[in-house]
Amino acid sequence: MDVFEAIKTRRAIKKFNPAHKMSSDDVQKLMKHVILAPTSYNQQNWRFVYVTDQDVKEKISVVARGQAQPRDGSLVIVLCGDMTAWKTEPLRYWKNHPSEKQETVKANLERKYSDNPQNQRDEAVRSCGMAAQTIMLAAKDMGLDSCPMVGFEYDDLAKVINLPENHLIVMMVVVGKRAEDVSVRGGQLPLNQVAFENSF
Ligand SMILES: Cc1cc2nc3c(=O)[nH]c(=O)nc-3n(C[C@H](O)[C@H](O)[C@H](O)COP(=O)(O)O)c2cc1C
Repeated sequence: MDVFEAIKTRRAIKKFNPAHKMSSDDVQKLMKHVILAPTSYNQQNWRFVYVTDQDVKEKISVVARGQAQPRDGSLVIVLCGDMTAWKTEPLRYWKNHPSEKQETVKANLERKYSDNPQNQRDEAVRSCGMAAQTIMLAAKDMGLDSCPMVGFEYDDLAKVINLPENHLIVMMVVVGKRAEDVSVRGGQLPLNQVAFENSF
C-alpha cells in the first residue's frame, strides 16, 4: 500500500473480528519490520511482548478496563522500554561500523543516560512511539488495522506480561481485522494551528 494511503486510512479500531487469525509468518514479518524503526544512537531500547495466545489476550482485555480490542484483535503488542539498554553491551549497536564509531557511541550513551532516569524514560517513550506508528502503518500494508492503547492498569498489565525490573510499559498496539466501518475522524485541528514555518 502507498504510504500516504496507509497514513490516511489508519484509524483506531474499536471492534475487531475475533475470528481473524494472523499466521505466525505474518507476525514475524511484522515484527521484523518494526525493529527497523529508528532509535536515538540506534540503542534499540524497545522491548516488545507480542501476544498471540487467546488466554493472555483475554487477561489483557481485563486489565485494559474491559476494552474488547485485545481480546478480539489478532495480535497484541505491548511496547516496553528497557531503561538499561544504553549500558548493556552498547558496542553491539554499531557492530557493522569501525570500533572507533562504536566507542564514540558508547561514550555518548554514558554521558546522556548515566544517572539520568528522566532521559532513560524519555528515550523509551520516544522509541516506542516510533515503533508504534511503524506497527500501525505496516499493519495497513498487510490488509490489517490497529488500535494504539494506554487505557490499562499498569501494575496489572506488568504482572500479565511478567515485566522485568528496569523496564517501562509505554503502550500497547492491537492489530487485527476491523469488524465494522469506523466513524468520521474526531476532527483534526487546522494545519496552521499546529504547524509553524521556521519558528512559533
Ligand atoms: C497513546 C494513545 C493511547 C490510546 N489509548 C486508547 C485506548 O486505550 N482505547 C481506545 O479505544 N483508543 C485509544 N487510543 C486511540 C485514540 O483515541 C485515537 O487514536 C484518536 O481518537 C484519534 O483517532 P484515529 O486514530 O482513528 O485517527 C489511543 C491513542 C493513542 C495515540
